[in-house]
Amino acid sequence: MTTAIIGTGGIGSVIARQLASGGETLRLASTDNESARTLAAEIGRAVVVAVDDRDALQGAGAVVLALRFTVLKGVIDQIADQLADKLVVVPSNPLSVDAQGNLSRLLPEGQSSGEVVAGWLPAGARLAMAFGTLSADLFESAGNRSPEPALLFYAVDDDRAGQEVERLIRTAGFEPVKAGGIEQSGRLEVGGDLHDLVVGPAEARSLIGAA
Ligand SMILES: NC(=O)c1ccc[n+]([C@@H]2O[C@H](COP(=O)([O-])OP(=O)(O)OC[C@H]3O[C@@H](n4cnc5c(N)ncnc54)[C@H](OP(=O)(O)O)[C@@H]3O)[C@@H](O)[C@H]2O)c1
Repeated sequence: MTTAIIGTGGIGSVIARQLASGGETLRLASTDNESARTLAAEIGRAVVVAVDDRDALQGAGAVVLALRFTVLKGVIDQIADQLADKLVVVPSNPLSVDAQGNLSRLLPEGQSSGEVVAGWLPAGARLAMAFGTLSADLFESAGNRSPEPALLFYAVDDDRAGQEVERLIRTAGFEPVKAGGIEQSGRLEVGGDLHDLVVGPAEARSLIGAA
């Protein structure tokens, strides 16, 4: 199946490598097409470098918006008419980074990025907050672990989005675990209790049950 990845930076490039290693066909787009071309050459198969963000969505059933939170709404607005009937996967954390590398949260306490992003999407788009729960290094090292795959938490509001994102998570080499509806996505973000965790099934179930 074909998935578009818009943004081939720190997390987008790792997501692309993991999905490609599981056999997903990819269409990549980035502001700097050179970085997408370098990534495609490294992956080596079943990857198309799209001309732009809109081109990336041609023929794709799902799109991963691997973008900083500050540019997310602008990109969604530009591709909104193409998102109806697609799975939209968002790994973004609502953070900004200053020149000294200090992080600050862009949303008020208690408001999750998932709730905000859901409000930016057109009717018919199916949102999954996923693939942003681990740092890029951890995501790469924990993928395709054996004998037991590492778990990856996600949040969705509808069952079809859940099935679709579970397929992508398994393709990337993880076992999916639903944390809850989109309103639970704050738990997946930097600072949330499910962020940057590599745990087994029993611990995952107890963590989710503890909410
Ligand atoms: N990196 C991690 O370890 C990690 C882990 C989990 C979650 N996240 C979250 O994922 C999001 C992205 O983080 P990141 O570290 O991957 O950031 P990043 O390294 O800055 O990558 C973002 C990418 O998006 C591209 N981009 C910007 N505007 C675009 C547009 N209009 N169309 C297409 N591509 C565009 C950028 O290209 P240019 O640089 O050329 O502008 C860059 O390649 C953040 O919200 C972060 O919190 C990151």
